[in-house]
Amino acid sequence: MKIAVLGTGMVGDTIGSKLIELGHEVKMGSRTAGNEKAMAWVSKHKKNASEGTFEDAAKFGEIVFNCTNGMGSLEALKQAGASNLQGKVMIDISNPLDFSKGMPPSLSVCNTSSLGEEIQKSFPEVKVVKALNTLNCSLMVNPGSLAGGDHNIFICGNDEGAKKQAKDLLEQFGWKSNAIIDLGDITAARGTEMILPIWLRLMGTLGSPAFNFKIVRN
Ligand SMILES: NC(=O)c1ccc[n+]([C@@H]2O[C@H](COP(=O)([O-])OP(=O)(O)OC[C@H]3O[C@@H](n4cnc5c(N)ncnc54)[C@H](OP(=O)(O)O)[C@@H]3O)[C@@H](O)[C@H]2O)c1
Repeated sequence: MKIAVLGTGMVGDTIGSKLIELGHEVKMGSRTAGNEKAMAWVSKHKKNASEGTFEDAAKFGEIVFNCTNGMGSLEALKQAGASNLQGKVMIDISNPLDFSKGMPPSLSVCNTSSLGEEIQKSFPEVKVVKALNTLNCSLMVNPGSLAGGDHNIFICGNDEGAKKQAKDLLEQFGWKSNAIIDLGDITAARGTEMILPIWLRLMGTLGSPAFNFKIVRN
């Protein structure tokens, strides 16, 4: 597939590289074409990797990954262009972490809404699926490296077909079908984004981001 990865940070790099390894064609988007990190990412790959603006990537992708900074996501998606995103599945990995007052960050939106919902509201024609925002990026694409893959991720979104497509991609990343918990519509993004304060605290306590949540039940 042709896939847009919006974001030049470690998440965009990791997701984009995994998608290429799986045989997809990926365009990485940034505020500016020729972004240094995007160029470095392109040069790591022999083929199927290209870069451009958020708009270029959104036009290119049949599916879009939002890997932008949560405080800039709405602006990044505005730059990508509603008409270029229209009707497409968007896997939203962003978290609304606000570091402007130092550590620990606060959530710029929570309790009664979430970034996933704000994106869905701003881009009603996009099929937003919130996923993968609750764990470190190296685990997102290599779940088997931890506890044999026996740990969980969450998805939510309003469109069942979009969630099915997202789940298929997550399974390509190595997630077992029963490790992916569908929490329902996009309002569930409140919960998955509000996990971040405990996730950040755990990272500090454990001294490593190589951990994840496992839901145990009868
Ligand atoms: N790091 C992880 O393992 C991890 C895990 C789970 C979820 N997440 C979430 O994934 C997202 C990406 O994280 P990251 O660490 O890879 O990268 P990041 O540094 O949070 O974000 C980098 C991207 O955000 C864009 N950006 C920043 N400010 C912007 C603004 N004001 N307007 C438009 N675009 C803006 C940058 O554009 P340019 O390319 O133009 O610089 C860049 O493409 C975040 O929302 C983060 O919370 C991260």
